[in-house]
Amino acid sequence: MAEDLIQIQGTKAEKYQSLLPQIAALVGDERDSTANLANIAAALKQNFNFFWVGFYLLKHNELVLGPFQGPVACTRIQYGKGVCGKAWENKEILIVPNVEEFPGHIACSDLSKSEIVIPMIHKNGTFTGVLDVDSNQLNDFDDVDANYLNQLCQWFVAL
Ligand code: SME
Repeated sequence: MAEDLIQIQGTKAEKYQSLLPQIAALVGDERDSTANLANIAAALKQNFNFFWVGFYLLKHNELVLGPFQGPVACTRIQYGKGVCGKAWENKEILIVPNVEEFPGHIACSDLSKSEIVIPMIHKNGTFTGVLDVDSNQLNDFDDVDANYLNQLCQWFVAL
């Protein structure tokens, strides 16, 4: 496809419904995961103007910063640490309405106020990393984000 996204007006769910097939087309037959994750982060940033969106990937038993869009961020996160490390430990989606109330939150930026972290888990149970999305607004993520971002991650790990 042409490397252009169509951005629709509508509810958040409608925006995700429009974006996800476009991401699938954008990834297409490309098999380089760095290139694909970079474009996915860019597509999410472009469509939703998230403050920070990106991937932390499992490497040698820690999460290492991968492709992202937004301000510079911490490079390594240990198991169980911060929101990302907790999502890894618990293998569950975490929605944090106020990061200041999350024990052990890793503050890469003072401007980050709420976040959602989606663990990327292959059908066979293999954990490969997380998608981390931060907002500069409190309480900016809900089940709609969880649903569609999880669909996106599960689709990606199954490629
Ligand atoms: N907030 C994360 C750290 C990564 S930055 O937000 C980009 C956490 O506590 O896991």
